[in-house]
This record gives sequence, structure tokens and C-alpha cells, in this order.
Amino acid sequence: MTTPVTTEIVDGIGLIRIDNPPVNALSNAVRGGIADAVRVLEQDPDVQAVLILCAGKTFIAGADIREFGKPRQPPSLAETCDIIEGCTKPVVAALHGTALGGGFEIALAAHYRIATSDARMGLPEVKLGLIPGAGGANRLARIAGAEQALEIVIGGNPISAADAHAVGIVDEIAENDLRVAATAFAKSLAAGGKAARPTRARAIEAIAPDAFETVVARLTRKTAGQEAPAACADSVRRAMTLPFDEAVARDREVFAQLSAGSQSRALRHVFFAEREAAKLASGSARPVARAAVVGAGTMGGGIAMSFAAAGLPVTLIDIDDAAIERGMDRIRRNYATSVERGSISAAEAEQRLALIQTATTRSAAGEADLVIEAVFENMDLKREVFRELEAICRVDAVLATNTSALDVDALSAVLDRPGRFVGMHFFSPANVMKLCEIVRTDATDPDTLATAFATAKRIAKVPVLARNCDGFIGNRMVAKRSAQAERLLQEGALPQDVDEAIRAFGFPMGPLQTNDMSGLDVGYAIRKRRGTKFPIADAIAEAGRLGQKTGAGYYRYEAGSRTPVPDPETTRVIESVSASLGIERREIPREEMTERMIFALINEGAKIVAEGIAARPSDVDVVWIYGYGFPRWRGGPLAYADEVGLPYIVERLDVFAARSGDETLAPAPLLRELAQKGATFAQWQKDRA
Ligand code: 3HC
Ligand code: NAI
Repeated sequence: MTTPVTTEIVDGIGLIRIDNPPVNALSNAVRGGIADAVRVLEQDPDVQAVLILCAGKTFIAGADIREFGKPRQPPSLAETCDIIEGCTKPVVAALHGTALGGGFEIALAAHYRIATSDARMGLPEVKLGLIPGAGGANRLARIAGAEQALEIVIGGNPISAADAHAVGIVDEIAENDLRVAATAFAKSLAAGGKAARPTRARAIEAIAPDAFETVVARLTRKTAGQEAPAACADSVRRAMTLPFDEAVARDREVFAQLSAGSQSRALRHVFFAEREAAKLASGSARPVARAAVVGAGTMGGGIAMSFAAAGLPVTLIDIDDAAIERGMDRIRRNYATSVERGSISAAEAEQRLALIQTATTRSAAGEADLVIEAVFENMDLKREVFRELEAICRVDAVLATNTSALDVDALSAVLDRPGRFVGMHFFSPANVMKLCEIVRTDATDPDTLATAFATAKRIAKVPVLARNCDGFIGNRMVAKRSAQAERLLQEGALPQDVDEAIRAFGFPMGPLQTNDMSGLDVGYAIRKRRGTKFPIADAIAEAGRLGQKTGAGYYRYEAGSRTPVPDPETTRVIESVSASLGIERREIPREEMTERMIFALINEGAKIVAEGIAARPSDVDVVWIYGYGFPRWRGGPLAYADEVGLPYIVERLDVFAARSGDETLAPAPLLRELAQKGATFAQWQKDRA
């Protein structure tokens, strides 16, 4: 086997080169290789300074996440860092791409850092439910100060080379070839008689305890329920109060605890699930240089903004100038808000606006490589639009629909070439939400599918493959949660109880609050069309309470406010519906509410994977995390089910189904089968891969 770490001595500089594709992760062999190389070069009288650099597209992007939970060979990463730092000759790390996690810890253990101008670096461990495990917080606090360390360790977001240079993390930015610049830098250190500069020996720039806690409070505000952010704050706190070795030893213990825990397991699952979901077995993507979106409404506008954000020109088409003006006005207001919040600059907003062209005739879609239809949810209208698009567009252009509930096979049947047709189901607000369900019909051809996937990725969405069914993956599942929310209201809960149960589970919003936001007329119309009844939801909508837009729905809203306020009028409506249904209202324990809503999701998820609507259980998890705010640190509905234990879920669903007579709560056959076998969704997925 070839070794991933090689050394070479050039003009008195000992080069350590790491080559471990795809991201130079710190496998056993890489850690061992670096430690051995440093020891050898330190002893070599011809070597005056040591340089660590990486082959491929990036410096070390972290510990090898695949090795977590498996036995590790020495040296540990912390020991490797100590060996680097303890080298008596100056050690320089040369950074390009993304120096992350354990990779950045290696860089911080080196005595000097040089980086390309486009390099990024950071400690994203918190996003995997961890803290930096090899002294990262301790060294970073000594190099850049405690406040910077808090930002980087708790925030988990990478910073640019320029920002790192400004705060003293990076000593020099390489103007051209990194290896050339880094070698010259190392030589200049040697020539200038610069010695090793162990980070551990540096003092930490002080920060007042009050100021420290204020920064921690700000950075942990939205992290309720998660263990890692507070553990990261503790790690920086220890850096300031304990001797270096003691602080790092404690970090290692905390790292081991967190990495064995369910939250980190869930977050690692999501990391790989997301990447797995985005892979397609076949098909080659056609280039998309220009897109068109038909329908400049809520969704069409958001979709167009996503293209513009990725630098792709897009034509937004609607029926007349007034509709275009309404759409563009909404887009302009969105940009203005982003500029106000500082998330983009005014110049960026202008650039993006310039990429959105508008038209009132569908022939303007003729130049597009991909057309996404987002007109009203009406089968006849959409069929007419696609028939016309087929006549206008090039034969190799992909035609996509953003329908959320129509039968995509029936829709594609109007086309002469249905192979070019696919569903691209975005989520509202489409410029923000990352999920895009890519819905294939029986006729969608592999290249069309590949083009839809590639385009979704290009516009920073997370694509997940779905097959055709009512509601596809996400909305089919959400319908089951909504049904439980309605039943809970009938049986004794109030909207605030139902929503709080879901928020306490970790969702940012409860289901009824969400319905108020999107408008209660939407669900009402769908139920009418399907002949289903939700007595409480129907009564609220029929009273003209359509949610935020009418100032009242499940909750009441003060003028101009989006904050839901519990409303005695809703309680009255709910109680009267319960009475008319002959239901004696009871106090429902929080745990029962949570279990009924979450287990209903899991149950439908099991049917969806058994039917092949979703390709794998982990795809269902990705849909829920990116489309519905399922807490990432719980891994998604099916990973969470594995964690809770399938036998318990089956047992509870049996109880709920028997008590309520609601057949939809009876455990799905796959769920029952896996529970009986003592298996998990994860194993089922692995066995079928
Ligand atoms: N370990 C193992 N595999 C990794 C990995 C890692 N740290 N990082 C990326 N990979 C794999 C991916 O799974 C993917 O594999 P695949 O091709 O088989 O699906 C491949 O590398 C390429 O990754 P991406 O598709 O994500 O490529 P991008 O170019 O889009 O992104 C990246 C590259 C920015 C490095 C991104 O992969 C990333 O953010 N990786 C995770 C970085 C991270 O979290 N590091 C910290 C790890 S924890 C740690 O270091 C603990 C320490 O403190 C002790
Ligand atoms: P909308 O009502 O906000 O916008 C529809 C737009 O289409 C309007 O601007 C209308 O003028 C335009 N339009 C109608 N007929 C047209 C035609 N023949 N040619 C060109 N433009 C035409 O609707 P919204 O909410 O944007 O929904 C659009 C589609 O997206 C629907 O299929 C809906 O089911 C789907 N969807 C909606 C989501 C949501 O949360 N609103 C989420 C995901 C999908």
C-alpha cells in the first residue's frame, strides 16, 4: 500500500507532503506518517525548518469521520499535534482549500501558517456534535484571543484567509504558487534565525468574564437541546483557566464522551446521508447556462432568486406586466431585507437582480436549458403550459414542474418526449429552504434526472430523489403529523400545547404555527378537493381565520406582528367542535403528544421506503432536516427511530391505534418486521445497498 505521507528535503527545508484523497482526512496512517516525518526531519542535520503541505484540492479537512467509533492506532491526533509543536525546528503549515477540524488543529500546532488567498479554515466539530478534540480551542485562544476562539469554535463556520490573517492566525498570504511561497517563507525563517514557536507557551489575550459570557450567550442562543455548543464554550473557558496540558486532557475526555453519544452519531449520519442522497447511479448532466421559471409568484420568485444567487441568468415569465411587477417587487423587497441585515452587500443584490430577466410571453423560455414551471396548482393549466413549452423549447432542454401535489405522470403524459420531464419540488421560501425533491416519473430519462440533480446542487440546494405519489416524500409524511395535531386538538390539547411539544422536540416551529404562516386556506382547499375533513381546522378556516395574513388563525396576531398569541376564541371553537363530536376532552401528557406526532411521521416514512418512493431511509432523514426543520442533532425521523428503538415505536403505535381506532397509526409492515427481527432502518439500508 502506498503511504499517504512522504518527505523530501529541498535546500534545507524538510517537506512533509500529505496525499490522502479526497480531502486528506487524518486517518491512522496520516497521523502516524506526520508524527514519524517530524521526528525524522527534526533529527536530520540538513534540515533547518519543516513545512507541512497537502496534495490535491485541500489541506487536511479534519479527522476521518469514517473512523469514529472504530479502534484507533496511536499516535492520537493530540499526540501528533504535540509532536509538531514540540519540534525544535520551526514548523510551517501551508494551507489551501479548507483546513478544518483536526486539520486546522494540526495547523495551529505548527509554529507558523501561510495560506493561499482563497483558503478557508475553521473548527466545524460543533456541527458534528463535538468539540475540537486535540487542543484546538486552547491553541486558537492563545493565537487569536478568547473571543475569536469562541466565535470559531461555537459558531463552527470557517473563516477566510484574509480574516485569519487579520487576527494573527495566518502569518502570510501566498501571492502565487503555495509550495514556492511556503518554501521561501520557511527559508526566510531559517535565514533569520527564527526558532520554533510553541503555541502552548503563548499567553491568552484576556477578556472580561462578563464579556465572555455575553459572547457565549449570543452564540448559543439558537442551540437549545444540543450538547456540543455549551461543551465548546467550556473548552474555551478551560483554555483560559487551566494549564494547557490539563485543559487538553479534559478536552479529550469530553470529545470521547460526545463522540460516543447519540447527538454526534446523529449529526455524522446526516453528514453522510446528505452526500449519499445527492448521488445518482446513472445519467450524465447536460450543461445549464440559462434557466427560465414560468410563474412569478411566491415560489417562482424564490426559485429565480436561487439561480441568481448562484450567478446563473434566469428568465422569469408570467402572464402580464402586473403579475411580473408584483413578483419583482417581492424579490426587490427580499433583497432589501438581506442588505439591511448585512447578509449580502448592496452591490451583490444589484448583481443578482441584473441576472433576473422578465417576460410576459412564454416564448422567452426558448433559450433556456432548463425551465421550471411554478404556475397555479391546477392540472389543466399546467398541462397547457407544458404543451406550449414543448413547442417552444429546444429538444434537449429539461422541463420541470414545481407542483407539490399533482400527479407528475399524468402531467408528463401530455408531452411527446416525456423523458425530458421531471419534478423539482422546492420548499417555501424557495430562496432560503435548501431541500429540492427531484421527482421522477416512469418516463423521466437518466440524463434529465442527472441535469436536475446537478442544477439543484449548483444553486446550493440539497437534492433528494423521490418517486411519484401523493405528497411525494415530505408532504405525504407531514399530512400524517397534521392529522395527529388535529386529533390532539379534538381530544383535549390547545394549539400552543401541540406546537410546544414539537418545539421542545427541537423543531424551530410547531405545525399549527406553521400552518398559520402559510395560510389555512391552502390546506382547506386541498381537503375539500379530496373530500377529507379536519373538523377543527375546517371550522377555523370557515370562520375566515386564515392565519397570519388575516390576523388570526389558530392564534391571534397583533397588527404587523408574526408572533402567535394564544386566542380564547380559538379555544372556544375547539371546545365546541370536541363537544359536537361527543369527545370528552382530557389533559394529554406532553410525551403522548410528541410520540403521536413523531411516530406518525416515522410510520409513514417506513411505508415510503418500503414502496420505493424514497430510495433509502437516510433520504427521508435528509428531506425532513432540509425541508421541515427536523432537528439535525436527532438525525431525521428514521435515524431517530433507530435510536429510540423500533420495538418501542411499534408498541406505542399499537397502543395509539387501538385507543383511537385510527388505522393509519397501525405500525407499517416494514416497521413491524424490522422491530421483530431486532433490526434497524440503517441495517436495512446497508443490506440493500
Ligand atoms: N472524513 C472522512 N470523509 C470525509 C471527510 C472527513 N473529515 N470530509 C469529507 N469527506 C468525504 C465525503 O464524505 C465525500 O466522500 P464521497 O465522495 O465518498 O461522498 C468526499 O470526502 C468529498 O467531500 P464533499 O463531497 O463534502 O466535498 P466538498 O468539496 O463539497 O467539501 C469539505 C469538502 C469542505 C472538506 C467537506 O467535505 C467538509 O466540510 N468535510 C467535513 C469537515 C469536518 O467536519 N471536519 C472536522 C471533522 S471532526 C475532527 O476533525 C475532530 C478533531 O477535532 C479531533
Ligand atoms: P402563486 O399563486 O404565488 O404564484 C403563481 C403565479 O403563476 C402567479 O404569479 C400567476 O400569475 C402565475 N401564472 C398563472 N398562470 C400562468 C401562466 N399560464 N403562465 C405564466 N404564469 C402564470 O403560487 P405559488 O405558491 O408560487 O405556487 C406555485 C406552484 O408551486 C404551485 O404548483 C404550488 O403547488 C407549488 N408549490 C408551492 C409551495 C408553497 O408553499 N407556496 C411549496 C412548493 C410548491
